[in-house]
Amino acid sequence: MCGIVGYIGPREATQFLLEGLHRLEYRGYDSAGIAVTSTDNIKVRKKVGRVSELAGLLDEQPVAGHTGIGHTRWATHGAPSDTNSHPHTGGNGEIVLVHNGVIENYSSLRKQLQGLGYVFTTDTDTEAVAHLVAHHLEEQLKLEDELTEELCLRAVKLTLLKLKGTYGLAVLFRDIPDLIIAARNGSPLVLGVGKGEYFIASDASPLIGYTDQVVYLSDHEIAVLTPGKLDLMHRDTGSMAPSIHTLAQVSADIDLGDYEHYMLKEIYEQPQTMENALRGRLDDDEATAKLGGLNLSPQELRRVDRIVLTACGTSWHAGLVGEYLIEEFARIPVEVEYASELRYRNPPMSDRTMIFAITQSGETADTLAAMRECKRKGLPTLAICNVVGSSIAREAHGGVYLHAGPEIGVASTKAFTSQVTVLSLLALFFGRMRHLSYGAGQRFIRNLQEMPEKIHRALECHEAVKAVAERYASMNNFLYLGRHYNFPVALEGALKLKEISYIHAEGYPAAEMKHGPIALVDQQTPSVFIVPRSGIYSKVLSNLEEVKARGGPVIAIACEGDEKVAQLADDVIYIPEVEEYLQPLVCAIPLQLLSYHIALLRGCNVDRPRNLAKSVTVE
Ligand code: G6P
Repeated sequence: MCGIVGYIGPREATQFLLEGLHRLEYRGYDSAGIAVTSTDNIKVRKKVGRVSELAGLLDEQPVAGHTGIGHTRWATHGAPSDTNSHPHTGGNGEIVLVHNGVIENYSSLRKQLQGLGYVFTTDTDTEAVAHLVAHHLEEQLKLEDELTEELCLRAVKLTLLKLKGTYGLAVLFRDIPDLIIAARNGSPLVLGVGKGEYFIASDASPLIGYTDQVVYLSDHEIAVLTPGKLDLMHRDTGSMAPSIHTLAQVSADIDLGDYEHYMLKEIYEQPQTMENALRGRLDDDEATAKLGGLNLSPQELRRVDRIVLTACGTSWHAGLVGEYLIEEFARIPVEVEYASELRYRNPPMSDRTMIFAITQSGETADTLAAMRECKRKGLPTLAICNVVGSSIAREAHGGVYLHAGPEIGVASTKAFTSQVTVLSLLALFFGRMRHLSYGAGQRFIRNLQEMPEKIHRALECHEAVKAVAERYASMNNFLYLGRHYNFPVALEGALKLKEISYIHAEGYPAAEMKHGPIALVDQQTPSVFIVPRSGIYSKVLSNLEEVKARGGPVIAIACEGDEKVAQLADDVIYIPEVEEYLQPLVCAIPLQLLSYHIALLRGCNVDRPRNLAKSVTVE
């Protein structure tokens, strides 16, 4: 939530700041703004709405300068407006800053600062930080006669000591124009190291094409950036040498290519992303999965007698599929916990419990907090994560990367199928450590190897999905029903529709709908039945008939060649037949496409749905 950028170096800052904000817009798009220093002042341009609106403003009122910061906002405190947009100014314009996170004690800080004569003009929590830095700067200036970089740093440090909550901050100083101080606690910040220039961003995507050398800031670290110099320090332990990593991403990863939307591009990337998730991880000889990043000895892994999967949103749905897979193949009891609940609960967990945080971004605040809580209790805490170098990836004891490439569309698609793929690898891995036979392990591997091709074929349903979308796009309530492995897929299908078309949709276990949702069934409430051939196929068909008998339209997702379903349902979308436990991977595809087309037909912004943000970095 909220994206931050910064630049210091020989280029005109605005170009990087604007492009960076475009790339970070998935983190929030209520407003955008930049601030650039010149010799005697800091010029601020900000505007409610998208980054493109800010670009328009900058065309009318350009700013020039080589040092600047920028922000794209997902509003927490104060409605989206020009005034509440970042950057925010402290004191009489001595400092300007951008902030990602939430300052929990802002109202008491605000009162204290108002008592000292500071005038607040916005409803944000951030303005308190801006005035606090200005206040400490003024106090420091009373002790020294000259404003120096060191003094600015002291003012920032004193401010940080008073903040409760989370922040990624980048601060400019009017009277030292070639200086940015950045600090992090709880909200991500990455520094890009170029030739004689430095970049700041909330994640690495703005840096692609500018530099591949990055430094990931950790909590309580502060960076002081001046032209050609980066000083890094920890709040408590002082100066430290930056640890520089090389980025693997390339520009094509974040380009739209020939696609109209990122969501569609990412749906179509799934045969490839699934291959990436499997690459190098299938061991034919041992009939198991190779997961080197778990960082646990075979003895430690064999001791595990319970697994807790924790996540939010789509990642939580992937976790539910994981529960079914791991319990079936590894016979280890699994619980799937919403991270936002787990962080404040205290369920009994022994030292034989293993935790997996599942997250695309690696930055979801609740998932990070739940993971830290488990770590505090000494449990082995691992991550299934997409973004390399993200907070969760770095703080986990180990884990498995998805290697799905950047996911930019706010509604998650390829990350879901990659997460399910990795969870199936875990099921195989733990299964083979226990009772799963060599032959069963080999069959599992063969089935997984076929999946990229099956996904490719599942995408051939696109035209059929489009036609179905046209028939149902005007309806305002949908039910999504599936059983066993396809129950989580029903939840995920309903979530996709809600997220991007703003249609009320409920996912339910198909049989459970008799205990409530069936009362909603009427001619205006279509039910999407996920009914591929399986051990409980005939049971789901009975549920389908129950809905038909009450006059509800039925859209069925069924295996190729299934005539029986065709006779019962109003519309059928066919997918290739795969083993039951891998069905979520193919069944998700038509549901992703259905929500995409319905959203388009209803004129919704597919990649930037209202009120949502891709990376929820506040609680
Ligand atoms: C937000 C996104 C969802 C995502 C969820 C969890 O709500 O809009 O698409 O599933 O966060 O994100 P994570 O990055 O932890 O998987």
